[in-house]
Amino acid sequence: MTSQEQLNAHRALAEGWLGRCLRNREPRGDLYDAMEYSLLAGGKRIRPVLTLECCRMCGGEPETALPLAGAVEMIHTYSLIHDDLPCMDDDDLRRGRPTNHKVYGEATAVLAGDALLTAAFEVILDAGSLPPERLLTAAAVLARAAGGWGMVGGQVLDMAGEGHALSLSEVEELQRMKTGALITAAAEMGCVAAGGAQEQRAAVRRYAEKLGLAFQIQDDILDVVGNAAALGKSVGSDARSEKTTFVTLKGVETCRKLVRRLTEEAKEALAVFGCEKEHLCWLADSLASRET
Ligand code: IPE
Ligand code: IPE
Ligand code: MG
Ligand code: MG
Ligand code: MG
Repeated sequence: MTSQEQLNAHRALAEGWLGRCLRNREPRGDLYDAMEYSLLAGGKRIRPVLTLECCRMCGGEPETALPLAGAVEMIHTYSLIHDDLPCMDDDDLRRGRPTNHKVYGEATAVLAGDALLTAAFEVILDAGSLPPERLLTAAAVLARAAGGWGMVGGQVLDMAGEGHALSLSEVEELQRMKTGALITAAAEMGCVAAGGAQEQRAAVRRYAEKLGLAFQIQDDILDVVGNAAALGKSVGSDARSEKTTFVTLKGVETCRKLVRRLTEEAKEALAVFGCEKEHLCWLADSLASRET
């Protein structure tokens, strides 16, 4: 199987799981519609694909990691719903559709995000596919990455930086937290699901930290040079909110080189996996040249 086929297969598995995860719930006003509206709107599904592929690479069965993969995508989707709110980035377009609050109103959008965050831990703790100690470890990894020491903390720094200049090290710290933390947790949970050794877990983390930073720098580049229709989300959002990004500090060309360097470092971090690393190396390369 080629890397593209393997990763497409993981994406299809994750899509199927996400499509089923909110079924059979009693209606609660618009809540479940609002959750599904954003959760099932496409998206690249990088995080669940990372979980499933890291599980496979570490010798596990990807299907057993599906609740973990779904959980990280739920948290990512909640972060996007809240990120787009008027009190944050105030954006109108996401995953090719009007943003959640534009359709369901701000209160329901906030609550749909809250419910996705909570459901993420529900599906992990309810999963019967893995031994309980692996589920607990995965839940702890995800909680740490999603909260005030991870994604939420990064969003706080991002908002606090609006309208005044940040240093390169401050931008790097906020990027690592707001984006890198969840991407790293996605990969690490795959290794945990497989019962991977400490050495494997450390290597997977190093790969994902480099990949996550490259991914957010590419996101900042695309906010300047990208196309809203292709991206499915608003562009120019960072400039409108007067955010300091790698691009405002270093310029697009230097950032492109930085993305390439981080991508090489990400791939090098996987040396311990021998030829099993092939699909994750392909993924890193394809993300470095992404236009969407
Ligand atoms: C967008 O994430 C927000 C960032 C952390 C850069 P993605 O680019 O993964 O968004 P989707 O999931 O494909 O919509
Ligand atoms: C958001 O970063 C990262 C999150 C934690 C949601 P951005 O604000 O740059 O993400 P986009 O560009 O709106 O997708
Ligand atoms: Mg933002
Ligand atoms: Mg945003
Ligand atoms: Mg952005």
